[in-house]
Amino acid sequence: MAIILDGNDLSQEIRSELKLELNKLLANKRSPKLSVILVGDDPASSVYVRNKEKACSDVGIITETFNLESTSSEQELIQLVHSLNTNPNVDGILVQLPLPDHINEIQVINSINPSKDVDGIHPFNLGQLVQGNPIFVPCTPLGIQQILIRNNIEISGKRVVICGRSNIVGKPIANLLLQRGNGADATVTICHSRTRELASIIAEADILIAAMGQPNFITGNMVKPQSTIIDVGINRMDDPTRKRGYRLVGDVDYASVVDNVFAITPVPGGVGPMTITMLLNNTIKSWIRTNNLSGNTA
Ligand SMILES: NC(=O)c1ccc[n+]([C@@H]2O[C@H](COP(=O)([O-])OP(=O)(O)OC[C@H]3O[C@@H](n4cnc5c(N)ncnc54)[C@H](OP(=O)(O)O)[C@@H]3O)[C@@H](O)[C@H]2O)c1
Repeated sequence: MAIILDGNDLSQEIRSELKLELNKLLANKRSPKLSVILVGDDPASSVYVRNKEKACSDVGIITETFNLESTSSEQELIQLVHSLNTNPNVDGILVQLPLPDHINEIQVINSINPSKDVDGIHPFNLGQLVQGNPIFVPCTPLGIQQILIRNNIEISGKRVVICGRSNIVGKPIANLLLQRGNGADATVTICHSRTRELASIIAEADILIAAMGQPNFITGNMVKPQSTIIDVGINRMDDPTRKRGYRLVGDVDYASVVDNVFAITPVPGGVGPMTITMLLNNTIKSWIRTNNLSGNTA
């Protein structure tokens, strides 16, 4: 039976550490502040934003959420971002994605001041990551690296296979684990929907990171025995036995994989909670940088 890499427990541990760190450094300074922009009324996005607000408040980060109409223009949104960029009391700016179709996501991301880009998705921050000198690392990749490090899963020299090449997960986690130094030094392969002989590549993975959005795609006969499996996927499957009519499953068929591997993240309760925890980490990191303090964050 595999070790279950529990993201809820680890998140609680890291959040307690962040809270302690913040209390130690706070003295009579202003508290860290995260500004969140939510455009429209997509129910899933609203739930994500509420979860982020609650998690921030639990560790002592102030949040301020701007709810813009779904009909708001790109210009209005960028103007709001600019005003937050120059507000000295704001440490982090988070634009909840996806945005309505009439707004160009790239233009909006590019308008965020990179030193407040706690989601780590501005090209400056992605470029720093590629150079091996990251400032803000995107939250899901940073959370995955923390799961591996804090569970003592060796990364150095290991063959890491990533299924998925998105800008928020696949590409940044590849660059993060490819860096020199602790918690990295992996040999990385990125796969996508055009990859040939995917099964034979997956079978070689010491660490497999599945971020495809394909429910239960990876099955027990595909994985390398004694490997570590990180399941990033969050997929809704109809389930009439549940009150809400669906359940969440990952990209990995947990039931058939769990007995064949060394360690695995569950869905839900694996990578998901770590993503929010790394947002807290990055916001506190930004506040530490603004105040010229030295403190411990990932
Ligand atoms: N736990 C969390 O906090 C968290 C955070 C972010 C995302 N997610 C979840 O992670 C999953 C991926 O999201 P994302 O935004 O990173 O990805 P995305 O933008 O949806 O892209 C999916 C990637 O998977 C590749 N792919 C799709 N089908 C494939 C197949 N059959 N074989 C190989 N590759 C395939 C695609 O290849 P092409 O590029 O060729 O199309 C693409 O690169 C989703 O379920 C999402 O909900 C979870």
